[in-house]
Amino acid sequence: MDSILVRGNGPLKGQIPIAGAKNACLTLMPATLLTEEPLTLTNAPRLSDIRTMTQLLGSLGAEVVALQGGQVLAMSSHDLTSQHADYDIVRKMRASILVLGPLLARFGQAEVSLPGGCAIGARPVDLHLKALEAMGAELDLRDGYVRAKTSGLRGAVFEFPIVSVGATENALMAATLAKGTTVLKNAAREPEIVDLAQCLRRMGAQIEGEGTSTITIQGVDRLGGATHPVVTDRIELGTYMLAPAICGGEVELLGGRIDLLAAFCEKLDAAGVSVTETERGLTVARKNGRIRAVDVVTEPFPGFPTDLQAQMMALLCTAEGTSVLEEKIFENRFMHAPELTRMGARIEVQGGHATVHGVEKLRGAPVMATDLRASVSLILAALAAEGETVVSRVYHLDRGYERVEEKLSACGALIERIAG
Ligand code: EPZ
Repeated sequence: MDSILVRGNGPLKGQIPIAGAKNACLTLMPATLLTEEPLTLTNAPRLSDIRTMTQLLGSLGAEVVALQGGQVLAMSSHDLTSQHADYDIVRKMRASILVLGPLLARFGQAEVSLPGGCAIGARPVDLHLKALEAMGAELDLRDGYVRAKTSGLRGAVFEFPIVSVGATENALMAATLAKGTTVLKNAAREPEIVDLAQCLRRMGAQIEGEGTSTITIQGVDRLGGATHPVVTDRIELGTYMLAPAICGGEVELLGGRIDLLAAFCEKLDAAGVSVTETERGLTVARKNGRIRAVDVVTEPFPGFPTDLQAQMMALLCTAEGTSVLEEKIFENRFMHAPELTRMGARIEVQGGHATVHGVEKLRGAPVMATDLRASVSLILAALAAEGETVVSRVYHLDRGYERVEEKLSACGALIERIAG
């Protein structure tokens, strides 16, 4: 297993290009199942999760060809051979459940392994199933699989009891081919949902209200092909914005947009980090003096994203004063805290709250990545720490960050991968 070696060496200067969003791409790819015509995604990120989705779609008989080094994905579901998503692939990646809605909508049947819990929480899929049931799916849960069938999905009014990104995506895709009108209430408003709706519209779907809590979909008989650019990865963006915030210096994030991360940018401002728009993206610099403590509560979009909580904690470890981070989306998403503590951070975790007492300096240490965002938070902390840090189990990192060593070393960071 590879690890990453970081030697903390002060301010960063340079530019970092931001890739297309992993979490958008993972829902745009299954959209290919809705049509027999080609769907092409540009600005796709080159990540192991994308390869896993490629493998899953391939197992259904879809063709996914990675062009231009993986930045273009040319897909076709013309000759699908199976509606069975096997446990062996689904267990690797929860986003696999996103094939359920499209398969059911186009073929009237699907058999998809239920994803288990995962490191950050139980993460059930009951809302995905309830929304599809409301549209007329008959579901049978047996032997770890959901077997779904329908003689034809019908439009329905469905209100999500809590906001779920994945369930909104599954329901939205299914509703494009349902008979009649579907209204999704308390829908997720994330930029990845907006991106999915825009892609589906390019394919001929009739959708209104994406980006608000109520999405209305008028079902159509068939969808066609399209070419769609994947939206910027706001989580990769926020992660790299934190690098100069933690180490000092100034970094331009190419393709960065404040509207993708407004709540996060407000917290950076309060902490003493300046964010300015440039022609090509955003420039982030640490203002004079030490980072100031701020309190953070994670919430669905447009609130502070849970996927940036671990990285923000890394910043607040060396802030002046005490910060409280409240995690409201996942019940077990503070696994980075004990690892950061190994680097000299002072953090107390109690239930969904983590209290971070800022220290002057972190020290390098051997640490272990426990999930995707936790791993990158350790790398950020290591950039600002005294001495050497080795982050092991970086396969988590490769799920969601492409060329992380390259992007950071281009700004002067001392970071390298050690093959293991
Ligand atoms: C998406 O996961 C992202 N993944 C996650 O990113 C992200 O953390 C999360 O949204 C929240 O923003 C992808 O897009 C592939 P949810 P998702 O359904 O869709 C509960 C990362 O690091 N819930 O919005 O699975 C659930 O347990 C990852 O890139 C139910 O109870 O998240 C959670 O507490 C990690 N029943 C809350 O809702 C359901 O049927 C929100 O989850 C579905 C969800």
